Amino acid sequence: MNKFIVGNWKMNGSLSFVDAFLDSIEEQNVAIAIPQVFLAYAYSRNPKFKLVAQNCSIYDKFGAHTGEISADILVGLGCQYVIIGHSERRHMFEEDNISNILKKLNNVISNNMTAILCVDERYEKLINRETLEFIKDNIHNVILAYEPLSAIGTGKTPSISEISNILNLLKQKYFSVNILYGGSVNSKNARDILSISSLDGVLVGGASLKLGEFKEIIVASKDLIA
Ligand code: PGA
Repeated sequence: MNKFIVGNWKMNGSLSFVDAFLDSIEEQNVAIAIPQVFLAYAYSRNPKFKLVAQNCSIYDKFGAHTGEISADILVGLGCQYVIIGHSERRHMFEEDNISNILKKLNNVISNNMTAILCVDERYEKLINRETLEFIKDNIHNVILAYEPLSAIGTGKTPSISEISNILNLLKQKYFSVNILYGGSVNSKNARDILSISSLDGVLVGGASLKLGEFKEIIVASKDLIA
């Protein structure tokens, strides 16, 4: 795959920021994880833009699950990707349960979307045989996002060779699955990181909230994502 840039707004943004974003970004290999409530609006503005949800329920379809949003609902809003197991969900909301992660992966894939499964150095060790088998069987619909805990929101990225070494190990363990790197990616380091040959893209948090900065990441990496 060409290299892929995914922005993650987390619990930020507004309808007018969705407008500004869609008005100024046209690249095919850029996707954005916006708060779920903005998805339908973004899809109505530009059905071609790749939309990502930041989470989904362990329950699928419909039901009496107050506050939950199913993968089935998300796909109906024009969503193509769902982030699963982001470290903020695992740490702030105690969503660390591997069997629940597997349920979410299953829901995403059975609704014909692609799952972006986040792992860090600690959580990666918890991935069990069943989840590994599931990834193997759905290798084209799962993307791994390697996000070291020390790098998320801290401004501190590991060195290129450290990232590269870990990616090589993950590629071997996870059947050459596509892998994104996430954690303090910005306009200064994006190109070097995206140039790592075994890397398939980046997941960008804070820097995706500054449109100018996010565009600089895209411009700096234009030939890599084309
Ligand atoms: P950051 O976030 O780019 O702000 O470090 C990355 C993420 O949490 O996905």
